[in-house]
Amino acid sequence: MSAVISASILASDLLNIEKTVSELENSGIDMIHYDVMDGVFVDNITYGEVILKKMRSITDMFLDVHLMTIKPLALVGGFANAGASSITFHLESSSDAFETIRAIKSYGLKAGISIKPDTEADKVIPYLPYVDSVLVMTVEPGKGGQSFMFETLEKVMIISEYIKASDCKCIIQVDGGINTETARLAYDAGARNLVAGTFIFKANDMKAAADSIRF
Ligand code: DX5
Ligand code: ZN
Repeated sequence: MSAVISASILASDLLNIEKTVSELENSGIDMIHYDVMDGVFVDNITYGEVILKKMRSITDMFLDVHLMTIKPLALVGGFANAGASSITFHLESSSDAFETIRAIKSYGLKAGISIKPDTEADKVIPYLPYVDSVLVMTVEPGKGGQSFMFETLEKVMIISEYIKASDCKCIIQVDGGINTETARLAYDAGARNLVAGTFIFKANDMKAAADSIRF
């Protein structure tokens, strides 16, 4: 399977979302990655369901919502109604993971579960048969433009081995510090959905940048 590319709009020109969405549509990028930060689970605050709904009103693209929030379960309905295509939440949040997965699925959306760099792979494995994707954070969540943490690759490999050895259909997503070098390493370790912000939006040609990491 070739890599699915998700563009994190956190690194885009947020004063021109409409232009960005149209460029993404024309670039063949597979998904728009929408980082939601609540100032509690992580220090920063980004955007919520209101802006997502505006984006949904101008595009049919897959909207990949990444909730870096302390109580994701409480937000599932709002983001589903705003037009999310998938919702990923953190295992380290305070919501019950199975209940949150069930809530996301009840809206017919794809469900993802994420772990921060310090969380071991074995903590997330029990949930893998019930989700569509597992997001292994390759930076500390909370801001864009950070350097890839190479030590997280081992977790990608462990999870990938587990998926291969089981009937599980879930795919591994990586997020943070992705560029041509780190994308290759993550792909070789077993990741099949690569999220890139700075790499795509600071490139002169976003289509060429995305194509260069679609192995
Ligand atoms: C980090 C976010 C990432 C981030 C990726 O908290 O979850 O999605 O925007 O940005 P880059 O690619 O710049 O590391
Ligand atoms: Zn993200």
